[in-house]
Amino acid sequence: MSRGPEETREIGFRLGRLLKPGDIVGLYGELGAGKTTMVKGIAGALGIGDREIASASYMIISEYRSSPPFTHVDLYRIESADEVEDIGLWEQIGGGGISVIEWAGKAEGLLPDDMIKVRIVTAGETGREITIEGIDEKDRNNR
Ligand SMILES: Nc1ncnc2c1ncn2[C@@H]1O[C@H](COP(=O)(O)OP(=O)(O)OP(=O)(O)O)[C@@H](O)[C@H]1O
Ligand SMILES: [Mg+2]
Repeated sequence: MSRGPEETREIGFRLGRLLKPGDIVGLYGELGAGKTTMVKGIAGALGIGDREIASASYMIISEYRSSPPFTHVDLYRIESADEVEDIGLWEQIGGGGISVIEWAGKAEGLLPDDMIKVRIVTAGETGREITIEGIDEKDRNNR
């Protein structure tokens, strides 16, 4: 449970530290749930400043030259799964980088089964129920 934007960002930061090259993270949650806030935390773990992270009104895919490279995808303005194909998503995620996808539900069925899923559910003004699936923290910490 997150009680404010800072906490969501911190949860993102901790998740970001566990990510490995090739990981894809899908974010689910309504408008204003805190998906971009979480992306800023994840990006921070890769050394990317949060002012560099743009919002969906400006971009669909942004790439950052971090190590490993980071790709931020926001499918908010996408209307159908066909359009997901049109934007060339597959050429830009996967590979050796780390990718996060806001509004992953819009590409349901097209994204890999082993994708890490983050669900954010609004609980009042500043409460957010956050669940993360598909990542085994213990396994990763022991590498
Ligand atoms: N616990 C919380 N975690 C994250 N954001 C919160 C929280 N409580 C309040 N907020 C507020 O909710 C908003 C979340 O905005 P953000 O852009 O991260 O959401 P989003 O899910 O990316 O929205 P969009 O669907 O428009 O892309 C911010 O204004 C933030 O201050
Ligand atoms: Mg957003």
